[in-house]
Amino acid sequence: MTVTHDGATRTNNKKLLAWVDDIARLCEPDRIYWCDGSQEEYDRLCGELVEAGVFTRLNPDKRPNSYLARSHPSDVARVENRTFICSKKEEDAGPTNNWMDPKEMRAILDEKFKGCMHGRTMYIIPFSMGPLGSDIAHIGFEITDSAYVVVNQRIMTRMGQQVLDVLGDDGDFVPCVHSVGAPLEADAKDVTWPCAPNIDDKYITHYPETREIWSYGSGYGGNALLGKKCLALRIASVMARDDGWLAEHMLILGIESPEGKKTYVAAAFPSACGKTNLAMLIPPKTMEGWKVTTIGDDIAWIKPKEDGKFYAINPEYGFFGVAPGTNYKSNPNAMESLKENCIFTNCALTDDGDIWWEGMTDEPPAHAIDWKGNDWNPGTGTPSAHPNSRFTAPASQCPSIDPDWENPAGVPISAFIFGGRVSHNFPLVYQGYNWEHGVYMAATMGSEATAAAIGQEAMRRDPMAMLPFIGYNMAEYWKHWLKIGRSRVATPPRIFRVNWFRKDDKGKFIWPGFGENMRALQWIVERCTIGAEAIESPMGWVPPYEALDWKGLDFGKKSYFAIMNIDREVARKEANDQEELFTRFGDHLPREMEIEREMLLQRLYHSPKVWDLSAAEAN
Ligand code: GTP
Ligand code: SPV
Ligand code: MN
Repeated sequence: MTVTHDGATRTNNKKLLAWVDDIARLCEPDRIYWCDGSQEEYDRLCGELVEAGVFTRLNPDKRPNSYLARSHPSDVARVENRTFICSKKEEDAGPTNNWMDPKEMRAILDEKFKGCMHGRTMYIIPFSMGPLGSDIAHIGFEITDSAYVVVNQRIMTRMGQQVLDVLGDDGDFVPCVHSVGAPLEADAKDVTWPCAPNIDDKYITHYPETREIWSYGSGYGGNALLGKKCLALRIASVMARDDGWLAEHMLILGIESPEGKKTYVAAAFPSACGKTNLAMLIPPKTMEGWKVTTIGDDIAWIKPKEDGKFYAINPEYGFFGVAPGTNYKSNPNAMESLKENCIFTNCALTDDGDIWWEGMTDEPPAHAIDWKGNDWNPGTGTPSAHPNSRFTAPASQCPSIDPDWENPAGVPISAFIFGGRVSHNFPLVYQGYNWEHGVYMAATMGSEATAAAIGQEAMRRDPMAMLPFIGYNMAEYWKHWLKIGRSRVATPPRIFRVNWFRKDDKGKFIWPGFGENMRALQWIVERCTIGAEAIESPMGWVPPYEALDWKGLDFGKKSYFAIMNIDREVARKEANDQEELFTRFGDHLPREMEIEREMLLQRLYHSPKVWDLSAAEAN
């Protein structure tokens, strides 16, 4: 079958043209369309999506140029158990990934993709992860049969003709193939959210050796916007290992002191643990002169350079953020970013043609249409917006966006921060003793997933917040981290852990969080710049009460030690539990990990109780 496509005239890149032909032959679309990334194209495709009933145009007086989409109820989040790393050897994917032999997977996918675009248009999306032409950036091409993906990609990536121009005749790119997995035969009527509704028919597949991505059966978020988790984390983590840099699940923010000195930090938190909030933080009014600026809210690509500093870029161009809980108190900068030119997925629709979600306002609307398209009111008993409903918003619309957010050279990182949701025993903030200790702290990070059914909280290990996003053996990734801290660099960024989520015995968060997190950030910055005061604890350097700025917050010593105190016995149990994680990696485990664990246990038994005593004194 030959399908003519005008876009072929826009590039002479042989690899690209041959690949597009191959995919077209396999998927048998009705039409092929090369995206140019223009506003005109975006508006036209959105118009078509409205006509097809996929998009609802929001009231232009309330939310100009914005749309709401409702997904199929089976297609509402990433599918981790259908995400595969297909390296030749199982060992190279490691024990934390789903592995399948690449030959076996190719046979399955050939079958799935055969004719999967019948009745549909095959879109070709040229995109750049990172500012065009940056030496940290990479080009990808996504082939998709979803116009929803095209318009989201235009917000989330730098997309269009300019990418073809940078690619040139022999430039390289990461090929990403995506299909919703719902061919339209003959005169069949389309549904508003085509996908493969059966979970076992979905495949989010990565071939790290050939650096390819194949995604089938889902149209949602990280499953379908392939530049994000698939390219910028799973495939990029492999490139980063090979070429001496880091691809991380991290936000990047700038912190300006009252003296006007700017410090950049990058912070890793698991999904839905507060990256977007922290990236857009507004300091408390009493912390006069402190200012926070945003570079990115989800992914950081970081390269050590000749001058010994680590430079980071945000490879993305927009935010794909969790909607519920976002409001003018928790995140005003996000709310301002959402005023126009946005796509909302699985939020509720209000009677005046705007969107709503749980926690957006104190008062819920009296009536709305919920994310499934049904009538909803506050008495309905189910959430109006799906808990993983999201907004797609241009980063340029964020009031706190940093003037250097598109700087192709990146910004120098002074600190790496790691944090999960831990309800007990993990201090609000502490610093690792050195790079190796810091890497160990990050590698053993855990986060609690609430198992609502039984009301229990279990710890899931999520090393560096990368558990679902690492493209190779996790223990080899730890080795890579250890090595990069020693590569030509005298002082790599300092490593910290934070925990905003400690709870009291009634199950309530002790720390007010959000803007107040600035108090911990200030200490982190001052540890890096002027050596703020710190006390040695078994877990790391901790700030004495006096080292934090408490102006304007009623948070006494007693409360402070309730979120800082370390119960040595509980901490020993935690350190012992880590053995189970480490053992899984066999001889891939870097020796430093066991040594650090051993040293922590020693300190928990025998180190002087300076910190414990000051904590006891406060009570
Ligand atoms: P992904 O986009 O999934 O990678 O996640 P993210 O880390 O960007 O998640 P997001 O910022 O959307 O996390 C939102 C959740 O974190 C909401 O439940 C917030 O209420 C909660 N959250 C954010 N900051 C804080 C905080 O300082 N304290 C507390 N207690 N909760 C917070
Ligand atoms: C995450 O799950 O960490 C996300 C959302 O950032 S998605 O892009 O859907 O993976
Ligand atoms: Mn994320």
